[in-house]
Amino acid sequence: MKLWGGRFQKPTDKKVDDFNSSIRFDSRMYKQDIQGSMAHAEMLGKQGIIPKADSELIVKTLGEILADIESGKVEFEIDAEDIHMNVEKLLTERIGDAGKRLHTGRSRNDQVALDIRMYLKDETEEILQMLKKLLGTIISLAEQHTDTIMPGYTHLQKAQPITFAHHAMAYFEMFSRDVSRLTDCRKRTNVMPLGSGALAGTTYPLDREFVASKLGFGSVTQNSLDGVSDRDFVIELASCLSVIMMHLSRFCEELILWSSHEFAFVEMDDAFSTGSSIMPQKKNPDVAELIRGKTGRVYGHLMGLLTTMKGLPLAYNKDMQEDKEPIFDAIDTVKLCLPVFNDMIATMKINKDNMLKGAKGGFTNATDAADYLVKKGLPFRSAHEVVGKMVLYAINNNKTIDEFTMQEFKACSDIFDEDIYDAISMETCVNGRNITGGPAKEMVEKAIADAKTRLKSL
Ligand code: ARG
Repeated sequence: MKLWGGRFQKPTDKKVDDFNSSIRFDSRMYKQDIQGSMAHAEMLGKQGIIPKADSELIVKTLGEILADIESGKVEFEIDAEDIHMNVEKLLTERIGDAGKRLHTGRSRNDQVALDIRMYLKDETEEILQMLKKLLGTIISLAEQHTDTIMPGYTHLQKAQPITFAHHAMAYFEMFSRDVSRLTDCRKRTNVMPLGSGALAGTTYPLDREFVASKLGFGSVTQNSLDGVSDRDFVIELASCLSVIMMHLSRFCEELILWSSHEFAFVEMDDAFSTGSSIMPQKKNPDVAELIRGKTGRVYGHLMGLLTTMKGLPLAYNKDMQEDKEPIFDAIDTVKLCLPVFNDMIATMKINKDNMLKGAKGGFTNATDAADYLVKKGLPFRSAHEVVGKMVLYAINNNKTIDEFTMQEFKACSDIFDEDIYDAISMETCVNGRNITGGPAKEMVEKAIADAKTRLKSL
């Protein structure tokens, strides 16, 4: 018989059992469910709501059940619907009436809210560690490439020269914001809902703060309806995960481009590439492509969760069981992508020569040629026009600006002098941009040093 079978005269249709059951996917919260029940039982005993001896027996037996689940000795049952009732059923089978006392002053509605908060807190912690590792990898990549000049782009057109270190450190900023977003989201997840009951709290003198502190929560929820019907923290996490995937995907998109023959800026290690079953020459950046592809499913989960919640009257509705699969899959996806991405970028080969060649072609020093004229007194708009004409001339004559003879320079403007060659060298273009946040070697070195300190305090 069902744990709730008292008022029923017929068994549930088999199809409904399967349809209703969430054990297939919520069994992964077994540890949080058991820890939550242990804290609840201990509190019930402490408050004299159930006999102390029962409370102790429940806690002890739950510990044994946990160990049995972890050593693979337990098979969950579809009939018992979800992880909460599966655990309670196991407990009651083992200790009878004492086990039946566990659910006093509690509903599955506040129980599931507790479990999912605990589970998401644990997973957030793991994702934070992975992000921090990635930040460390980005720093060490950057450290090796403060002199590696490459073209910076806007509109995917060559714009101005930067260094690979500067480019990599842009991603340090993005992923460190992801750390900060997750840390913030965890604060709102870290609120303990037990005591909300089904929706209207309970008549038992529960000690909610005791349970909260036992389980490591910072505070308790302040409204029983909200306590059981709030899934904002699930949506927020899905949103944080979507932004992480968006960042990974942008970097992957660049790596895919850069791995092409046309760019040849980077080469993925053989261990992080795959071949083609028909074209023997191929070495494909599948890992980067798959991460880019998986971004779509995480975005989809965010949209799914928002849509599931949008029409729900207060308080709990069974629709909310549909929060689990999307958020679990979003978490699994991010946890799958971060380590493989980390190792892929840690092992990729950077083709310095091609990056430099790329920076030199495409007139990335045109701004600097104009700035040269400005520093010698020409208004910027006029300088812009002079250099624009120079670029056109260069294109027609199949050369770069730095390949101009002094005569060619003079023909464009008599302001030009011998020092123009140094003024528009790639090194000068990069290192002259020594403003805070700029690509100059000294600034990037400072940014890296600063990033190391920031990483320690994350
Ligand atoms: N399996 C349910 C969920 O994941 C647990 C809560 C069910 N509560 C209820 N009264 N049916 O949301």
